[in-house]
Amino acid sequence: MRLGIVIMAAGKGTRLQSKRAKVLHEIGGKPLLCHVIAAAAKVVPPHDIVTVVGHQAEAVQTAVRNTGVRFVLQDEQRGTGHAIQCAERETREYDEVIVLSGDVPLLRAETIVALRDFHLREKAAMTILTAEPEDPSGYGRVIRRSPGAADVTAIVEQKALLPEQQSVREINSGIYAFQRGALYRHVGQLRADNAHKELYLTDLARLLHDAGERVVAVEAAQPTEVLGANTIAEMMELDRELRLTTARRLMAQGVTIYRPDTVILDAGVEVGPDTVIEPFAQLLGTTQVGSDCRIRSYSVIRNSSIGDHVLILEGCVMEDAQVEKGAQLGPYAHLRPGCHVGEGAKVGNFVEMKKTRLGAGSKAPHLTYLGDAQIGKGTNIGAGTITCNYDGVDKHPTLIGDGVFIGSDSALVAPVVIGDGAYVGAGSVITRDVPADALAIGRAEQITKEGWAKNRRAQREARKGKEKA
Ligand code: UD1
Ligand code: CA
Repeated sequence: MRLGIVIMAAGKGTRLQSKRAKVLHEIGGKPLLCHVIAAAAKVVPPHDIVTVVGHQAEAVQTAVRNTGVRFVLQDEQRGTGHAIQCAERETREYDEVIVLSGDVPLLRAETIVALRDFHLREKAAMTILTAEPEDPSGYGRVIRRSPGAADVTAIVEQKALLPEQQSVREINSGIYAFQRGALYRHVGQLRADNAHKELYLTDLARLLHDAGERVVAVEAAQPTEVLGANTIAEMMELDRELRLTTARRLMAQGVTIYRPDTVILDAGVEVGPDTVIEPFAQLLGTTQVGSDCRIRSYSVIRNSSIGDHVLILEGCVMEDAQVEKGAQLGPYAHLRPGCHVGEGAKVGNFVEMKKTRLGAGSKAPHLTYLGDAQIGKGTNIGAGTITCNYDGVDKHPTLIGDGVFIGSDSALVAPVVIGDGAYVGAGSVITRDVPADALAIGRAEQITKEGWAKNRRAQREARKGKEKA
């Protein structure tokens, strides 16, 4: 048996009121369509997945091209039935075809497999995946021949429900398995005689049934996984559901997450056991966090890798960062892309770093900017240190060795090299390289005038005395 999967993703999503194609809207940090493709790709190899694109076809294709799926173009979007007509040629090598909707993103691979197996076991021409959610409004309803029977006589769209069908709570998920021969023998008979003047794929249930073919329905294990996203509000419900699923998965692996409903976790995030995540933290993209870490509230961590025993205090923002074990960051540290914080290193409050390596055990505890800098091991960067890496046209590097001491409020004008073990006096403007083990002071020499303040006070007192007299 050769199985192909068709994903319908050509629709505009009029109900979203958005410029962006519906399937490119994101939940859990990824476009809807990417979730559907990921589930499908666990069931068949990507070249057996045919994605029907139409509205903003190029943007949609670009967004998912790296998955290796195939595409067919539905030039004009004349309904779900028309979308499947467009996929006829591309699916000709298959015996059975599973149809998924690009806007039903929580579907799990296990459920696709259960649908496939039920469909094959029943030797059906069409098998409909259904559910009974709390609120069935907006969905097409599945009319079974009799309650509890597997056989289905029709799918009726919400707007076309007859009075006696209003009470049917079993919804059509928009996900089906077809025997391909039966599908394409009948799909040409669809008519656009309905509220939207579209070709409804759902009408195939009645067409096939009336032609004496077997049409059956199978209920999904969890109703939430077949919920569709037609409005932003519905999408945000699914987003919440997905992030909670991620939180539950991590908690089952030994991660403590306080108030998981407030924590924003993208689907691909990994966290080691005994790490504690506080409320309102965000772990996004491909972020990986080790074990025994603590991530305090309001930190936003994107595409970063964090070792074990790392402490991230409140309000840190980082992207594309690598933080080694035992390091400490924040509160309010900002790691722009390309930073590496070495083992046991410390980046304190209001420290901004960009494309910078801070070596093992080194510290930049307060109020500092380090850009395009390479800093060795065991070095101390005093409060208020600035690497002046930009001359208005080009960026330049700052190289600081091991065991260096940079005094507070120093400006290091790049390109500049500070050798191992060197000292820079506080308040220096360093414009020339400092050799290893040297002391550099680049500031105006201090002038001290003995007794000056006392004399000044005395003069003032004398003046006041005269004025009174
Ligand atoms: C569809 C079903 C409905 C079901 C619901 C489940 C029909 C007529 N109705 O309704 O019974 O309860 O899904 O979520 O099928 N698409 C195309 N080309 C088109 C039109 C749509 O590719 O010409 C794609 C859309 O991008 C979307 C999917 O098909 O991913 C479903 O279309 P949508 O308009 O959302 O259908 P619903 O009204 O939700
Ligand atoms: Ca839909």
